Amino acid sequence: MRPLIEPWSRRDFMAGLGSLGLSGIVTGAVGAPAARSSTEASLKPLRDTSGPNWSAIQEQFTLIQDITYLNNGSLGPCPRYVIDETVGAWNRLEQNPVELGYGSLLSEADQTREKVAKFLGCSMEEIALTRNTTEGMNAIAQGLNLREGQRVLTTDHEHPGGSVCWEYYQKRRGISIDRVNLPVPPASADDIVRLFEQKLTQQTRVISVSHITYSTGLRLPIRKLADLAEAAGALLVVDGAQGPGWLEVDLDEMGCAAYVTSAHKWLLAPKGSGILYIRSSFRDQIEPLLLQHGYRVYTASTGTRNIPGIIGLGAAVDFLSEVGKAQIEERTLALRELLCQGLRRHPRVTIASPDDADLRSPLVTVSLPDGVPGAQLGRALREKHGVVVRVVSHGALNGIRISTHFYNTAADVEKVVGALAEELG
Ligand SMILES: Cc1ncc(COP(=O)(O)O)c(C=O)c1O
Repeated sequence: MRPLIEPWSRRDFMAGLGSLGLSGIVTGAVGAPAARSSTEASLKPLRDTSGPNWSAIQEQFTLIQDITYLNNGSLGPCPRYVIDETVGAWNRLEQNPVELGYGSLLSEADQTREKVAKFLGCSMEEIALTRNTTEGMNAIAQGLNLREGQRVLTTDHEHPGGSVCWEYYQKRRGISIDRVNLPVPPASADDIVRLFEQKLTQQTRVISVSHITYSTGLRLPIRKLADLAEAAGALLVVDGAQGPGWLEVDLDEMGCAAYVTSAHKWLLAPKGSGILYIRSSFRDQIEPLLLQHGYRVYTASTGTRNIPGIIGLGAAVDFLSEVGKAQIEERTLALRELLCQGLRRHPRVTIASPDDADLRSPLVTVSLPDGVPGAQLGRALREKHGVVVRVVSHGALNGIRISTHFYNTAADVEKVVGALAEELG
């Protein structure tokens, strides 16, 4: 019997296409990938002899002209360089998906782990790449294999992305969750550590905290909590969604067992990219299914990945490194200070975020007077003034959160302060 489809040679195939007038369809589809869309040379104008060139940096952002974007804590905008590198990788990938996606582009994506490790102060073997903080926290919780009776100590200011994982195991495995009630704001870092000490029990297996709370931008004393966890025989797991990218982070020095973050906030990487760190000395205690076959970008337990997005994350790290981690932190905090100075002049505004130098961050939450719903104010700021902020409704807190990044300007700060003054009267 004849086979349904006759085997044919490439010459027959091409002749067949020619007879159908389709010979051009394969031209360029197979063969060498196009050159990279841009090179590291395009990072050079970001600095001059005196340091970061802030106006060249601002030109990298494609935000529409009529908005003042002050919600970097939710999603940060990718600079042009990151967009170009990501789209360039995507263009190359689509030229020959299997060979490039499991070949040279995958190797390039794996280099992102090396860049991230250097940027965050740890080794490449401790870094895996995820889609976001929530996925990272889920992986850590799953990898801990918690048993009934064991306890997780956390706070009452966690984002769902850092707490649903524990609630899942509370429901399915019978673990217990204890919560420290964080004062708004706390007096000092030592005050916070004392609150944790008081809630520790013999059964506490995990202390799980945000590095910086999403609600008020409170920065927790991670090094001190890591020491406390170690003394109590527990593991410190950190939801770092609001840290890396504006804050210089040194994971080796911080001492936590695990740290996860989203790269699409302060790191300005493509949306849907995240980072997971497990300290090498805790590797045998945290074994997520996702990392069963190793920490590389593509393994049997990760499946196929978003290669352009991961390469884009590497480009974002290159971009931030070129601007300079220390300079980014310094400028971001200077903008925060300017913002707080402006807000303090307004009698109807209460700043819920801490002012202590050890506890503050560029996430500043304004607690609103009674009778002013945050959602309504947020809408007015956007529609009447073009100012983009986040509405925060957490427990008794009714407010708006303003998050400035290094590419923002004093004019942006002036704009939000003026808009608030006008709206609050
Ligand atoms: C502290 C914190 N944790 C977790 C998340 C969730 O992040 P993602 O949606 O990227 O997983 C956020 C998002 O804002 C956050 O602020």
